[in-house]
Amino acid sequence: MPFFIPLLLLGCPSGPGDSSDSGGGDPAACSTGHTWTGGNDESPLMNPGEDCVACHASGEGPHFTLAGTVMGDMGDPDDCNGVDGVIVRVTDADGNLTELTTNSAGNFYTNDPITLPYTIELDRDGVTSSMSAEQEDGACAACHTAEGRNGAPGRVVAP
Ligand code: HEC
Ligand code: HEC
Repeated sequence: MPFFIPLLLLGCPSGPGDSSDSGGGDPAACSTGHTWTGGNDESPLMNPGEDCVACHASGEGPHFTLAGTVMGDMGDPDDCNGVDGVIVRVTDADGNLTELTTNSAGNFYTNDPITLPYTIELDRDGVTSSMSAEQEDGACAACHTAEGRNGAPGRVVAP
């Protein structure tokens, strides 16, 4: 029986329907009706809603100082694709502006140096919203989970 478990793990290739990690939720649970199904496959579209910076602060792969996902709804679960084409304006403590645009998963990320704290404004076709508080952590998903942590109301949502 010791060989049985490794065989089971190898028998789960990444891909649509793969449930061996968090990839591939129920599209019906997502406001956009679309999910990421690639597991931890490396991609700019990977793991929407998850804490990008937790994996991308060090180690292999690109290093991010600030990253997250703009979702369609406050309660969207992890791995729901978010909203594309939303501009995320980050103004850091030195007054430097970094403008990011969400991709087709709703993800945005940068490795630009961000002097903390920063402020955020979102812009979708000229309709804007902003976070009233300044933040000290570039990992949006540390607070903006589906349930909301540290007082956040839920996801970062498109205006
Ligand atoms: C569970 C850990 C984990 C999480 C969470 C995660 N990533 Fe990754 N990501 C990786 C790994 C590992 C790689 C591949 C590193 C390598 O070998 O080059 C990668 C690669 C990437 C790449 C490079 C893709 C390429 O084509 O080379 C981008 C861009 C990326 N991730 C964006 C994100 C974004 C945006 C998020 C959050 C929405 C995120 N990642 C969340 C682990 C993670
Ligand atoms: C330490 C926790 C924390 C972090 C990190 C954080 N936020 Fe927030 N965010 C909040 C809280 C709390 C609120 C609600 C009060 C407010 O607006 O300041 C909020 C509100 C918002 C709002 C306004 C929501 C609305 O529509 O009224 C936006 C937009 C937002 N955050 C975007 C971001 C982005 C983008 C990031 C990452 C670059 C981020 N936040 C990181 C805690 C956080």
